[in-house]
Amino acid sequence: MTQTIAVLPGDGIGPEIIAEALKVLDVLKNFGLDIEIQEALIGGAAIDATGVPLPPDTLALVKQASAVLLGAVGGVKWEPLDISIRPEKGLLGLRSELELFANLRPASVFPELVNASTLKADVVSGLDILIVRELTGGIYFGKPRGIRTLDNGEREGFNTLVYRESEIERIAHVAFTSAQKRQKRLCSVDKANVLEATEFWREVVTRVGKNYPDVQLTHMYVDNAAMQLVRYPKQFDVIVTTNMFGDILSDLASMLTGSIGMLPSASLDANHKGMYEPIHGSAPDIAGQNIANPLATILSVAMLLKYSLQRADLADKVDNAVHQVLRDGIRTKDIQEAGLKTVSTSEMGDAVVAALQKQF
Ligand code: IPM
Ligand code: MG
Repeated sequence: MTQTIAVLPGDGIGPEIIAEALKVLDVLKNFGLDIEIQEALIGGAAIDATGVPLPPDTLALVKQASAVLLGAVGGVKWEPLDISIRPEKGLLGLRSELELFANLRPASVFPELVNASTLKADVVSGLDILIVRELTGGIYFGKPRGIRTLDNGEREGFNTLVYRESEIERIAHVAFTSAQKRQKRLCSVDKANVLEATEFWREVVTRVGKNYPDVQLTHMYVDNAAMQLVRYPKQFDVIVTTNMFGDILSDLASMLTGSIGMLPSASLDANHKGMYEPIHGSAPDIAGQNIANPLATILSVAMLLKYSLQRADLADKVDNAVHQVLRDGIRTKDIQEAGLKTVSTSEMGDAVVAALQKQF
C-alpha cells in the first residue's frame, strides 16, 4: 500500500534543505519504496499564503499521512505578529494536534567530524547521546499564560509549568525502552530542588523505573546537566527531560557534535506515527544562499524510514551514505575544515544521492 509522506518545507533555509531530502526520497522511490510525497504549507509561508501558521489543509494532510517531514519555521519578517499567530505556533500546533509527545534527539559524533567540535577531540570522540524530550506538555503548553496588567497598572508576563502524571509516565516509558536498546543508562533531568512540577516529575520517573530493573536510573538538576554535558558528555547514554529543558539541552548537545546542522530528530505519538525535522531552526541569516547543511534533514529522513515506515534497512543505507560523503572529505560551510572540499547545500545533497545509489 502506498504510504503518504507529508512534506512541509516552511521558512528560511527550510525549502533548501527539504529539496535535498526529497532527492534522497526520490532515489529510494526509484528503488521500490512505495511512497507518495505531498507538500503543504506551514509557518511563515502559510501565514503569507493563508493568514494562519497551520492551515486546515495542512492539518488534514498530516493527519492522514504516514509520516511528516518538516524543514523549519520562523523568521524576522513575522516577529512583529502576535505570539498566538506566529510561525512557531504552526509547529507547536502540529506537535499537539498529532500528540507527538516523544521527541528523540540523538547527538552522536561522526568520527570524521571530531575536529569540527569546539570541544577537544578526546572529550567528544565516540560520543553517542539520546535526548528524549517531552514535547506536548510543560511550560510550552501550560495554562494560564499571557501578558496582563495588574491593579496597580504594572504589566506582567506569565506562563505555567504543569505536568500530569500520565504525561510523565508515557515519556518515561519511551525513555526507559530507548535505554534498554542502548547502554541501559537513563539520566532524568529536572529542577526538583526548586520547582514542584519537576519534583513530581522525579517521583513519577522513579516509580516507572521500577518496571525497568535492567536500566540504571539517575537524576540530575538541569543546571548541573548543562555543565556536565560540556565537562564530560560521555557519561550520558539516554537523557529524559521536560519540554523546555530538552529544548535547551539539545541545542547545547548539538555543539558537541560539531554543528547544529548535523542533528536530526523524531517526534512520535503513541503509535509511532511521527514528524521528522532537523533540530536547527530556519536560519534566516543564511537562507537563500545555498550554503546550509542539509545533513540534519537527510538524517531525519533516515529516522522516518526507521521509526514510521519500519524500513531500518533503508535507514541504514541513508546513514551510510552520509558517513561516506564525510569520509570523502565533503563539507558544508558549518563543518568546513582546512584542506577539505567545501560544497553548497545542493552539492552536498548530490553527493549523498550518489553515495546512496551505489548501495543498491
Ligand atoms: C525546537 C525549536 C522549537 C522549540 C521552536 C522553533 C518553537 O527550538 O524544535 O527545538 O522551541 O521547540
Ligand atoms: Mg530548540
